[in-house]
Amino acid sequence: MYNIIDGKRIATIIKREIAEEVEKNISCGMKKPHLVTILVGNDGASETYVSHKIKACKAVGFSSSIIRFSDKVTENELIIKIKEINKDKDIDGLIVQLPLAKHISEENIIETIEPSKDVDGFHPINMGRMTIGLPAYVSATPQGIVELLRRYKIKTSGKHCVVIGRSNIVGRPVSILLSQKNDYGNATVTLCHSRTKNLKEITKKADILIAAIGQKEFVTEDMVKKDAVVIDVGIHRVKSKKTKSGWKLKGDVKFDEVAPKCKYITPVPGGVGPMTIVSLLTNTLKSATNKFD
Ligand code: GUN
Repeated sequence: MYNIIDGKRIATIIKREIAEEVEKNISCGMKKPHLVTILVGNDGASETYVSHKIKACKAVGFSSSIIRFSDKVTENELIIKIKEINKDKDIDGLIVQLPLAKHISEENIIETIEPSKDVDGFHPINMGRMTIGLPAYVSATPQGIVELLRRYKIKTSGKHCVVIGRSNIVGRPVSILLSQKNDYGNATVTLCHSRTKNLKEITKKADILIAAIGQKEFVTEDMVKKDAVVIDVGIHRVKSKKTKSGWKLKGDVKFDEVAPKCKYITPVPGGVGPMTIVSLLTNTLKSATNKFD
């Protein structure tokens, strides 16, 4: 019988812990942590993500603000605003919601954010510090995955972790975190991608399999070892006649056939997803209190 890794439950617990710390800090005279989000244009998915972030900030007692720009904004106008925020002592965390309009370089924008306010952990300085094991802001999804493993006491030391997908925001950083010399590292990590040969042979050896491919139900039962731990990072909206909204969410893993083979598995929705916003809150609290683990 498999165990579900309940990200929604863990996220609720961590949010409560954050809210308690904020309350304690305020009673000691500290100000509320303040997260600013820059939102360019009106992409529906980005609007939804940002509204979830704002709601989560409110729930744990943070201040939050959105700065909106039309999708005609120039790169320079954005850079001027970011530099202004970098200097503003009242603001602890700044995120620029991605993707941006095509005429704006995401790299230039990310590199303008002051690394000490880069609670998304996307700045090359944070990526670099994380890579060599220095205190850094770690991006939301990799941090959320490691936190789930930690809270479920799923050991990584000496295990073979296979990550499918090498994106800068999930696959690559999680592969680095799991190989680091610390409690939730020490794994032997294989990073697979679109050019990997014999993928199935590799995934079948995984004690911990992390699916971050971005393809609906890519991981099938024949790719998974018995009693593996499977972490599904994918989110795909598909039409459904069974739900009120007419939609349901699927992951990168074919859950119904893979789950019976697993020791632990994350569901979609309710697995990795709820942990990502929690990581952003954790990073913003760290910035406000200058506390790194
Ligand atoms: N777009 C999709 N995911 C993210 C994220 O984690 N941070 C930002 N800034 N934009 C995103």
